Amino acid sequence: MFDLKLYLDDRRRLVNRSLEEMLQRAAPAGRLHDAMHYSLMAGGKRLRPVLCLAAAETVGGCAADAIGAACALEMIHTYSLIHDDLPAMDDDALRRGKPTCHVAFDEATAILAGDALLTLAFDTLLSAGVRQPRRARQWLSAGMDIARASGCRGMVEGQMQDMAAEETPLALDQLRRMHALKTGALIEAAATSGAVLGGADERQVEHLHAYARNIGLAFQVTDDILNVEGDPQLMGKAVGTDAARCKSTYPGLMGLAASKTFAGQLVDEARRALAPFGERAAPLAAIAEYILKRKH
Ligand code: IPE
Ligand code: IPE
Ligand code: MG
Ligand code: MG
Repeated sequence: MFDLKLYLDDRRRLVNRSLEEMLQRAAPAGRLHDAMHYSLMAGGKRLRPVLCLAAAETVGGCAADAIGAACALEMIHTYSLIHDDLPAMDDDALRRGKPTCHVAFDEATAILAGDALLTLAFDTLLSAGVRQPRRARQWLSAGMDIARASGCRGMVEGQMQDMAAEETPLALDQLRRMHALKTGALIEAAATSGAVLGGADERQVEHLHAYARNIGLAFQVTDDILNVEGDPQLMGKAVGTDAARCKSTYPGLMGLAASKTFAGQLVDEARRALAPFGERAAPLAAIAEYILKRKH
């Protein structure tokens, strides 16, 4: 029987150790380094990097093949959270159980720490390609996936739509498209970049992409549900904020019970996409289940 807890503990440890080393090497001591370190090491779930490693392993590679991409994804995710929490955006004071970056430091430092994490992510991806010339094509392909998922065709556009939707309520199909960009794109890139770096062929990448599209949306639906009924202590961030800001959400549009059923259907669909990989996909199957049951 596959033990998800053991798996997550082990892969998170690898990611945390690698992030520490990368930051230590890249950022000179000082205020910017401190702010980057503060947010990066504040204790996130590491879902995107673990997905990236698990995708590489599912196609027959190993975690070491994809660790550079896994860390780059976490740097980008952390930057997005730092900027998302700023007064100009969601204006949140608590993240990962600690004061947000702009509260612990100041707004300018938080903006710059986000900028520096985003830049370091692409430094990490490109340097891995330079260090491993025989795999340079894989690193370029992974880097392209991650770049596209992060920017104006992915997360940043999703954030733009999220801000605009505070003024204009969304219909269900618009909400789905916004979630696919805001949260789904980076989760999809975690799976596809991991697969490419693990040596996947095109068909395998497509199967893992289908898996990730479904868990990406399921993840954001559960995030909406937890914003209604989650425990802020466990989550390390405020709840009830979506309703307070009049955000369109799945529970808001379809109700809590239907949102839970929908998330369950997405996870079932994700698991079906793993069929071609057999037992090798046990970690990804367990992660899909975890997304549904998570309490934080
Ligand atoms: C929070 O992401 C923001 C969303 C995209 C919903 P996570 O729930 O993965 O946050 P951390 O990394 O564990 O803090
Ligand atoms: C977080 O989104 C940032 C991104 C997805 C880029 P939200 O604003 O929806 O999530 P929380 O509630 O702050 O974690
Ligand atoms: Mg937001
Ligand atoms: Mg927010």
